[in-house]
Amino acid sequence: MVLILGIEGTAWNLSAALVTEDRVIYEVESVYKPLHGGIHPREAAQHHASELKRVVSDVIRGAKNAETGFSIRDIDGIAFSQGPGMGPCLRTVATAARALALTLKKPLIGVNHCIAHIEIGRWQCGARDPVVLYVSGANSQVLVYFAGRYRILGETLDIGIGNALDKFARYMGLSHPGGPKIEELAAAASMHSSGEDKDKDRKYAYIPLPYVVKGMDFSFSGLTTAAMDALDAGYTREAVCYSFQETAFAMLTEVTERAMAYCGRDEMLLAGGVGANRRLQQMLRTMCHDRGARFFVPETRYLHDNGAMIAYLGLLQFRSGQTTPLRESGVKPNFRPDEVEVTWR
Ligand code: ATP
Ligand code: FE2
Repeated sequence: MVLILGIEGTAWNLSAALVTEDRVIYEVESVYKPLHGGIHPREAAQHHASELKRVVSDVIRGAKNAETGFSIRDIDGIAFSQGPGMGPCLRTVATAARALALTLKKPLIGVNHCIAHIEIGRWQCGARDPVVLYVSGANSQVLVYFAGRYRILGETLDIGIGNALDKFARYMGLSHPGGPKIEELAAAASMHSSGEDKDKDRKYAYIPLPYVVKGMDFSFSGLTTAAMDALDAGYTREAVCYSFQETAFAMLTEVTERAMAYCGRDEMLLAGGVGANRRLQQMLRTMCHDRGARFFVPETRYLHDNGAMIAYLGLLQFRSGQTTPLRESGVKPNFRPDEVEVTWR
């Protein structure tokens, strides 16, 4: 049996977990919440630095108390998010991981955060070879595994969908993270329109916003600006949130469907924090149903950033002999998933 400790801390969530082949034994997280505005990389890194010791010791203590019989000496390797992510946050976590690996005399395993989102989803849902829609704060990509790598078939040309939602939410004066609040406002728009009161319905109706798909790529920055303009022009928040979601999610669904058609895949996996959105899930589920394909979405705790996904990908890499020597353990803020040779599939 293999036991891996994984540490995540690329942005807002510092989280550590212990996993084995068949389960997550214990996980502890500590969330950084900006007082105002978006995530401040140095503040987030300070948060991680001050919480790291507690989070890691709580996981180890928790695993012991869970009567698993595991102790710190049983750990086979230390996995950490090597990138992509915010430089100061990545460096804080990498330093802690190196220190632990050296102290325990165990190998380090640097993992790609995006692939960790994908592999925990495949593990949790039992998806074999899906087209993946990975949508989070900084990233938005459509990927498929082919010939030893996760290939990026389509991606955002500017900002990630999560950052677009968070930016627009901030413009409305809402606190970070904005995605869930926009989801609520958008759902309220659908509830308001009854089909009976025309004046009321107009206040909550769909507003055309820029729909930008170029080949297999998409863009969210023009859409975000247009949504801000619509708000300034007097449209209700509910209508703009609803229109923002319908437009952006339709773009993502279109590209995902095209990827499935191109690659002849009959499975689709949703990954990343924005995947928690029920409207996005609904659109993708309908698309998959119409094509006779299976739609997979993991529990919300495995969609947003979590330590278990880092530990689990670390375990896959460890078992296939992929560990990270100290000299190669530097952080990679722009680490792309297609740089990784997939040795475990
Ligand atoms: P990555 O490094 O993979 O980009 P991340 O740091 O952005 O990860 P995640 O937890 O994967 O972290 O995603 C966070 C994003 O998900 C935020 O932008 C947040 O607003 C968004 N989000 C969370 N819940 C929802 C929701 N219900 N609807 C839409 N967006 C959501
Ligand atoms: Fe993430």
